[in-house]
Amino acid sequence: MLAGTLAYMAPEQAGRGESAVDLRADLYALGVTFYQMLTGALPLEASEPVAWVHSHLAREPVVLTERNAGIPAVLSAMVMRLLAKAPEERYPSAAALAAELRRCLATWQARSSLDALPDGARADLSGFASPAWLYGRARALDELRRLHREATEQRGPAPAASYVLVTGCAGSGKSALAEAFCRSLEAAGGVVARAKAQQHQRGMPLAAVAEICADLARQASGSPSARQQGWAAAMAAAIGDDAEMFIALAPAFEAWLPHRPRAGDANTGQAKTRFLQAFCRLLGVFGSVAPPLVLVLDDLQWTDRESLEVFRALRQAPLQQPLLVIGTCRTDAVEGGALAEWLAALRQHGALRGEMAMTPLDAPALTALVADTLRCGGARAQAIAQLAGRKTGGNPLFFLQYLRVLHRSDLLRVGAADTRRDPRDAPPGPWTPRSPRWTCWAC
Ligand SMILES: Nc1ncnc2c1ncn2[C@@H]1O[C@H](COP(=O)(O)OP(=O)(O)OP(=O)(O)O)[C@@H](O)[C@H]1O
Ligand SMILES: [Mg+2]
Repeated sequence: MLAGTLAYMAPEQAGRGESAVDLRADLYALGVTFYQMLTGALPLEASEPVAWVHSHLAREPVVLTERNAGIPAVLSAMVMRLLAKAPEERYPSAAALAAELRRCLATWQARSSLDALPDGARADLSGFASPAWLYGRARALDELRRLHREATEQRGPAPAASYVLVTGCAGSGKSALAEAFCRSLEAAGGVVARAKAQQHQRGMPLAAVAEICADLARQASGSPSARQQGWAAAMAAAIGDDAEMFIALAPAFEAWLPHRPRAGDANTGQAKTRFLQAFCRLLGVFGSVAPPLVLVLDDLQWTDRESLEVFRALRQAPLQQPLLVIGTCRTDAVEGGALAEWLAALRQHGALRGEMAMTPLDAPALTALVADTLRCGGARAQAIAQLAGRKTGGNPLFFLQYLRVLHRSDLLRVGAADTRRDPRDAPPGPWTPRSPRWTCWAC
């Protein structure tokens, strides 16, 4: 599924980019809005979804001053910066943008012109950007690579599905690990389909399977046209007779599957077997690009029962190529219930090839994260990492949130060799985002 409104969609939302989607996607959308306000036109134009995706990923907008010479160059440059393809080239935060705009306003009020900002008047654009890569997970990534290789080289009478489970508490970095691995795989030409279960979808039959299908349809739509042509024909050949089932799950298939002779409900009786066979053929289309195809099932604890059944059934299904299924799951959800049974069955048949626990980040990883995020050096980074690590138990989510709180409270500066006040003044005790302590201390 495409996330966002086509004309305002950031490149990282539009396709298989290297970057995660974060607040900087909103800054891109804001850039499109500013562009429209200043020039009366959208920065990029396209007539259909595929063309929009291509535009955001590959085409450069005309610089604002070229459309309208009356627009101050400073303002034009700011909007173009918002429209940068790479998130790290945009403003790091809305606050950094607001600070720059305030400088512009002050300059305008003082001089009635905005040709250039005076020396030293440029806002401090350093903001608190999310880390661009993972710290302290080299071994976990190596292990995923090894399991992927193993799946590629598997021997046996027929291609099989291998499963890997990544467990850990909330915020321990399960999704981030799976995503980092999949990004590197995609960069090397591999194909990954993702489903992220939501708590409220737990009772929705086949919600996760539908998401995998929708992701595959989206990727087919976002691919260059030659490949698209090939996939359209291959998909029609693979699931054309069962098109109705797939269109019901993922309406995006309608564009790919013109023939729909037979209707069916993927979740009843005989149709289940039929659906599973067709699903395998569909996976085969994408798996043939660079086997094994990787399925990511994020937050298995919320995945609906019917999808779990389909994903488990893939173990014995007539696959055309090997398949690697990476599931992430909160540790406390692994015991009892449908998921526990699911895992037990996979373990029993030796299909669960790897189980990885996301433990807290260690001191060197936290120090490196602090050094890069706050752009500060050795001893200072170590001291901050020690304090924040103690407060948050090395949980990456809490750790980053804690740093953000310090930053927002003006206790830490990005890009400064020093902190403003010493964060070691913080009251003792562990910290969680819900802890009442930080509020008192931050004021
Ligand atoms: N090793 C790491 N280095 C840097 N940042 C990390 C690392 N691991 C996780 N993060 C960051 O911490 C945050 C939480 O990670 P993530 O969402 O992967 O946690 P999770 O275990 O999937 O949590 P949940 O159970 O809620 O789904 C994200 O912003 C992620 O980018
Ligand atoms: Mg997660």
